[in-house]
Amino acid sequence: MPRLAEGFVTELKDRIDLHDLVSRYVQLKKSGSSWVGLSPFNKEKTPSFYVHPLKGFFNCFSSGEKGDGITFVQKMENLDFYEAIEYLSREFSIPLRFQEGSSTSEPLGQSMRKELFSLQEIAKAWFSEQMKAEGTESEVARKYWLQERKFNHEVADSFGVGYAPTDRFALGRHLTSKGIVDKLMAKSGLFYDKKNQSDWVSIFCGRLMIPIREKLGRICGFTGRKLSVTPEWGEKKAPKYVNSPETPIFHKGQILFNLDLANKEINESKDFLLVEGQLDSIRCYTEGFKTTVAPQGTAFKESQAELMRKSNPRRVVCLLDGDQAGQKAALSYVPIFLKTGLDARFATLPEGADPDQIVVNQGKEALEKIIEEGEPMVSYVCGKILSKKPSPQEKIKVTDFFFPTFAEMESLVIRDSYLNELADSLIVPAQALKADFQKFNRNRKPAYQQKTTHNPTQKVENKTTERLTTAEDDLLYCLLHDVRLGSSLSQIIDPSWLDTKVTAGRILAKILAEILADGPLESSEMEELLEADSERFVFQNLLFQEPEEESDTTIMDTANHCIAALFAKNSRKSEKTLLSSLQELNHNPSSTTELRAQLKEIRSCRKNPPKIFETELDPKL
Ligand code: GTP
Ligand code: MN
Repeated sequence: MPRLAEGFVTELKDRIDLHDLVSRYVQLKKSGSSWVGLSPFNKEKTPSFYVHPLKGFFNCFSSGEKGDGITFVQKMENLDFYEAIEYLSREFSIPLRFQEGSSTSEPLGQSMRKELFSLQEIAKAWFSEQMKAEGTESEVARKYWLQERKFNHEVADSFGVGYAPTDRFALGRHLTSKGIVDKLMAKSGLFYDKKNQSDWVSIFCGRLMIPIREKLGRICGFTGRKLSVTPEWGEKKAPKYVNSPETPIFHKGQILFNLDLANKEINESKDFLLVEGQLDSIRCYTEGFKTTVAPQGTAFKESQAELMRKSNPRRVVCLLDGDQAGQKAALSYVPIFLKTGLDARFATLPEGADPDQIVVNQGKEALEKIIEEGEPMVSYVCGKILSKKPSPQEKIKVTDFFFPTFAEMESLVIRDSYLNELADSLIVPAQALKADFQKFNRNRKPAYQQKTTHNPTQKVENKTTERLTTAEDDLLYCLLHDVRLGSSLSQIIDPSWLDTKVTAGRILAKILAEILADGPLESSEMEELLEADSERFVFQNLLFQEPEEESDTTIMDTANHCIAALFAKNSRKSEKTLLSSLQELNHNPSSTTELRAQLKEIRSCRKNPPKIFETELDPKL
């Protein structure tokens, strides 16, 4: 992999206006020399997300996240460090610079993920070719697409729809001939485990192939629909759809079919349209419903709702199939929308129909009408559970359905308005319903007895009121806020004192070793030593943490305090080892003299831990 030129990362950060970058995701208002908006990481009503373009960092008080432009893009787009650099370089037209001698023609991210993306692209091109090829098999696929499904060639081309031949070795042969190595083939999700076979066997045979793209539009996997030529699976019938399995680039919970295209259209005055199937989604999109997305089958997860919420839609309209499976799915979607804070409506399709068939058979106006008749969540659920003259028991069924989710909602305002809506639908006084809810809420098990539900507020509390940090965290904080401490620290701290199970401990070990070998470092140089994202995130969190204003302890006092703590911990560890050695040698008192002397030394030193003095600080920095 070609290496980035030294200093390029710093240059990239300098050249990108953090306000320009962040305002693509968050509406920002001026606040002094900074900007403020609603947190993109947390649901909140009062803006507590600050961007400081001059200082080049953001600070989100509700989630505790801090960082620079690279970190921001990593979190928003779910990218690794190098992908984020490439992304920013592309978006802001700042060409990548590489170290001399490393090839620039080669793209930077020759990482596994990157190569897997391009492999999917090669497979897609080949499937498309196969769909257009001469031969009876291809003819079956084309006929299915054009005549049976009533799509056309343009749609096939724009969505990259193709055909996987029944020859189960053909795809493997093609990819191998393109120079794809076994390691990548194994992780591509296109083949069965190789085991002892000599050739790669494709999991997609005789199927219509629909590429699945992730939110940036890169193909990350496929779904293959059964055709009349699809070989059956021995005794078992082959399933109607086969999807790529989980791979390093294909995580079902993180994918909504067509989200990349829908995202271009969505805004605060437009709704997402959620359908069940990929082909429904393609149909709706081509007919002008450009904000249509689909989960993979009927399984819909909170992480997928979260993907939609990030785009700030006005609401989501669900168009689930009129069959039983579709209706059951709809009820399971409601708590997900409520928890995610998305306003959703449910439109019911006629029994046995799906959006694709409606558009094909009755035209898009028919679908528009169904969408318009979508019901809000509360009345939709009531309609499913309550009969015309609902009994008290039926009403309890409804409250049983909603209360557990209401209890988990963060916004009390939104919760209250749902309670009012529910009281209306159940025709009971709002006060009575709210009293019942309070009772339910009080009787709930304490949080730690419940299944681990993600609770961001709790996380925030820990972060702000009770900062749980290790000596390693605090020491790294000191070093980042006064880099002059580096030389002394590198001489005083023995690497074995640092707990490398703690991220800050690993970071400190790297930085101090470098300073010991090569002399003092600036904080940007320190950052370049870090490779793992987890390390960069911790580093930036501490780097951008403002010192406590009212505190009168200096950074050096804190550093000395940390040194003393690490020293004491290490000294206790040595003491323990010595004591157990002494115990073993107890029968031979003469050999223990030396150890006893060491023990005495350790104990007396403990009262005088090493310390840094102002006069020692490196004046060059
Ligand atoms: P068509 O029959 O091609 O129109 O598909 P559909 O989208 O109408 O399919 P259906 O309503 O049966 O299922 C909805 C969605 O569930 C599909 O688009 C698939 O994503 C998924 N699905 C359906 N059948 C299967 C299956 O056998 N296996 C898997 N993994 N998913 C399936
Ligand atoms: Mn269908």
